[in-house]
Amino acid sequence: MSRFADQTVLVTGGSGGQGASHVRALHAEGANVVIGGIDADRGAGLAAELGHRALSVRLDVTREESWAAAVAETEEAFGALTILVNNAGVQNPPAVIESTDLATWARILDVNLTGTFLGIRAAAPALRRAGGGTIVNIGSTTGLGGTALYAPYVAGKWAVRGLTRTAALELGRDNIRVNAIHPGVVATPFITEPAAGSDAPIADFYSPEPFAVPRLGQPADITALLLFLTSPDAAFITGTEYVIDGGLLLGPALKNGSPS
Ligand SMILES: NC(=O)c1ccc[n+]([C@@H]2O[C@H](COP(=O)([O-])OP(=O)(O)OC[C@H]3O[C@@H](n4cnc5c(N)ncnc54)[C@H](O)[C@@H]3O)[C@@H](O)[C@H]2O)c1
Repeated sequence: MSRFADQTVLVTGGSGGQGASHVRALHAEGANVVIGGIDADRGAGLAAELGHRALSVRLDVTREESWAAAVAETEEAFGALTILVNNAGVQNPPAVIESTDLATWARILDVNLTGTFLGIRAAAPALRRAGGGTIVNIGSTTGLGGTALYAPYVAGKWAVRGLTRTAALELGRDNIRVNAIHPGVVATPFITEPAAGSDAPIADFYSPEPFAVPRLGQPADITALLLFLTSPDAAFITGTEYVIDGGLLLGPALKNGSPS
């Protein structure tokens, strides 16, 4: 299938976890893919594996000049940018608000919120030059509630929601759609590896047993939704938010399954 044959997508944090899943699927459906991230070696490895129509660019989402270079390299290689996936994200080491230092707060918001803002700002002119396109911001179910010990992460993901709606309003007349996806708990290094500055992975605190669908999300679950939202099938969808969490936000399911 070549649903994305005339599309060029830039995925931030695209060399591993959910980002790599998005890159592989979009590439398989015909898109030119640009893997943007701070781990240039891993990005180059994925691009080499995919072969033609794949490019790795070094992109630190917190830096304006890095965004300008990544968008320029994308247009130079493929002629246009039509899809941006703001996927890069970091989590804070678990700590109550009183024990969270300012540097940690700033670092997490810098990547998760300012990085998304800079991405929208850098990509919008390119998407306009292409005649239109779409942006998907990766939020989190934590951005719909509260999560003890994760204030910087939660606050940043909440803010991405307002940014998404505002960008959708500002860019809709230019044929640019902007939406957000809020994953629940997804099996990637994000939950299996400890965050910088901590020694316990978040998976130590979470069990999927109480979810309506009692398993962790897989990157492919999120990718399926991303492909729909970036495809022409979603042409009338903008400024919306999609929760994909196996029912996590519903609350606990029955302990022993359905009563007979
Ligand atoms: N895994 C989960 O349970 C889960 C749940 C909800 C939301 N999310 C969100 O999904 C997105 C993808 O996370 P993942 O699960 O694939 O985890 P991951 O850790 O595999 O991916 C995060 C990526 O962001 C990149 N990154 C970090 N800082 C960066 C920077 N300054 N510039 C560019 N890239 C940077 C990392 O190198 C990594 O490739 C994140 O935004 C995360 O917040 C994850």
